[in-house]
Amino acid sequence: MIQKPRGTIDILPTESPLWQWVEQTIKDTAALYGYSEIRLPTFESSELYKRGVGETSDVVQKEMYSFEDNEGRSITLRPEGTAGVVRSVIENSLVSGPMPLPLYYLISCFRYEKPEAGRSREFYQFGVEQFGAENPAADANVISLGWDIFKNLGLDVSLEINSIGCRHCRPKYHKALHDYFEKSKDDLCETCLDRLNKNPLRILDCKSPVCSEIAKNAPKTVDYLCPECEKHLEKLKKYLDTAGIKYNINPKIVRGLDYYQRTVFEFISEDIGSKSTICGGGRYDGLVEELGGPRLPGIGFAMGLTRVMLALNKKENLPDLSNKPHLYIASMGEGARLKSFEMSLALKKFGLNVTFDQVGRSLKAQMKYADKTGAKYSLVLGDSELEKGSAVLKNMENGDTTEVDINNFEKIEEIIK
Ligand code: HAM
Repeated sequence: MIQKPRGTIDILPTESPLWQWVEQTIKDTAALYGYSEIRLPTFESSELYKRGVGETSDVVQKEMYSFEDNEGRSITLRPEGTAGVVRSVIENSLVSGPMPLPLYYLISCFRYEKPEAGRSREFYQFGVEQFGAENPAADANVISLGWDIFKNLGLDVSLEINSIGCRHCRPKYHKALHDYFEKSKDDLCETCLDRLNKNPLRILDCKSPVCSEIAKNAPKTVDYLCPECEKHLEKLKKYLDTAGIKYNINPKIVRGLDYYQRTVFEFISEDIGSKSTICGGGRYDGLVEELGGPRLPGIGFAMGLTRVMLALNKKENLPDLSNKPHLYIASMGEGARLKSFEMSLALKKFGLNVTFDQVGRSLKAQMKYADKTGAKYSLVLGDSELEKGSAVLKNMENGDTTEVDINNFEKIEEIIK
């Protein structure tokens, strides 16, 4: 039997109502912050991620699903959303529209990682990107959206923040990191050895146990910030305090993608095991320019919906999201089935979920099916009901019955609703 590829999930009909609720809650919250949706291709030119996400990131070096298309172009299934949004914003000239420009997306992403709880090869992200505002107020507003989403989903998370400096203070910090890691050169993994000269910052988020152990005492970004970056971080803290958002400054957060500058942050959940980062983001003021656009600041985040679901499934008292039929119409004979079809269509116009027998089962089997679907009411149609023009409507929960006119839909709706 053919099985799904390793690291992918099936979202079954019993699970999808919770996914839909999560997505709707997120969209409603994003709308309050003025965000609009952007929908983009699932695959892009590989060059976009190499230049956007960065040649020295784990994502580009080890995790991309890349292939050549029939005309020899290198194509990559999107490993994340930010680079594609920046590409589109430049390509469609949104960069010259009104600013700030707040955008969101709900997408699946692909990374060739070792699957485990909370880490898959195809995973789902809700992400936001906001362009055109360099002020720390923008950082706080984006973080506040993430904070509100978790609040509205009823999830407890903590917020960790750091600043990784800008292109002015980065060289001094890189030198300090280089000098530090140079001393343990012989113990670093091969990838990190390569990163030592190209981008020593990336060694800080290497997943190899030896490299992470060495990285524990590495110099911290916050000790190397230029006065402007320091001021940015201080102002951001003030905005977050005003919003009543609690945070920890965590100098260890450097994020795994190369485009970040200044503010970086992660939301952590205790409910999802070792893969505890449920959402990550930061500022990427140089990315639009890097990808061929004008100088335009940007900031955003993405939350892993698979991790959101893991956290939600640990909770009790989830909302009842089942879509049980309001009414099941059982029928005996072809004439009655035709009438039950007609009635089901008419009653849908009143907003009722009505099902009828499409299989041709016995009456007993039909009632068993109605019970299994959790239908609230049932009604049986046979030749005599068609002749009389009335039938018995039964409340499946308490057994109460009412004789109803089978053409008086208003009356049926009144009883059912
Ligand atoms: P990221 O940290 O690579 O950032 O991913 C964001 C979130 O996606 C993670 O916090 C995690 O919840 C989820 N995630 C990542 N990889 C996996 C996986 N293999 N399986 C399940 N969930 C996963 C980004 O993608 C940036 N584009 C975020 C961003 C937007 N920064 C600025 N704007």
